[in-house]
Amino acid sequence: MKAIIPAAGLGTRFLPATKGTPKELLPVLSKPVIQYVVEEALEPEEVDGVIVVNSPEKPQIESYFHVDGGFEETLRARGKEKEADEIHAAGSLPVSFCYQREAKGLGHAVLCASRMLRGDEPFFVLLGDYFVPDRQMCVKMAEVSKMHGGASVIAVAPVPEDQVSRYGIIAGECVGSLSDMNATGEKEGAVWKVTGLVEKPAPEDAPSHLFIVGRYLLSPRVMELLATQGPGAGGEIQLTDAMQRLLAEEEMYALVVDPAEGCDTGTPAAWAATNARMALADPDSRDLFLEALGNKAIEQLR
Ligand code: G1P
Repeated sequence: MKAIIPAAGLGTRFLPATKGTPKELLPVLSKPVIQYVVEEALEPEEVDGVIVVNSPEKPQIESYFHVDGGFEETLRARGKEKEADEIHAAGSLPVSFCYQREAKGLGHAVLCASRMLRGDEPFFVLLGDYFVPDRQMCVKMAEVSKMHGGASVIAVAPVPEDQVSRYGIIAGECVGSLSDMNATGEKEGAVWKVTGLVEKPAPEDAPSHLFIVGRYLLSPRVMELLATQGPGAGGEIQLTDAMQRLLAEEEMYALVVDPAEGCDTGTPAAWAATNARMALADPDSRDLFLEALGNKAIEQLR
């Protein structure tokens, strides 16, 4: 099974930095954001490769995932074995690339990867502005899919009413929970049967307060539906709309997750907070980070 990571956006929220560096390559500690997402995507045992949907304007992303034997040798000659191993590991990840030449929306980006999939296989989609350090969200989604005969599964989480119009929102009902959690309603671990999906609804039209978090395990039929999907919210081809059409033919489930399990890198402030959070969680960085921050800044955080 493959996992698709759409990464063709212009990164306008991070300008001017993204004039020179694609936002996917901005670091969290010393590793680019997209590498966390790739490693997360490869965690479920079913996944054997990642397809990044890139834009032709950002060739640096593809270069990053190539092995650079010369550079590795230079590092090893200088005794920098750990660093050489790290760039070797990044270059050895099973990542392939396809290109989205026009910004026509998330659904269109996903469709761009269709010719790189086996037509009869489900696939994951992971949105790249967010990563889950323990890499377990997609593993749990695969478990829910198995519980329901291989159906599509999306991760969802509660969102305040005044924010529903930023997201895809589901309709449905709670039908169970992850095997070890005994959760109900909007609690983490609850499993819903999805009966409807709407992209960026007005608050009065939202069928629930559960938003699509950006982790999808989808039936191959979604690709066929995307091929005939017209524009929706914002004039874009929406993945949510193709999933809504899928509901007429197949079952779909949603797993309620705690979005705070993951780290947001979608805005400069969220990205900075993610760096702080990861530094505090990393034994090699924690003390140096606190020292560099200084007492005054630490006081301000209180
Ligand atoms: C996309 C999806 C939306 C989802 C969101 C999560 O929207 O279309 O359904 O809730 O990601 O971040 P975007 O953020 O691209 O507008």
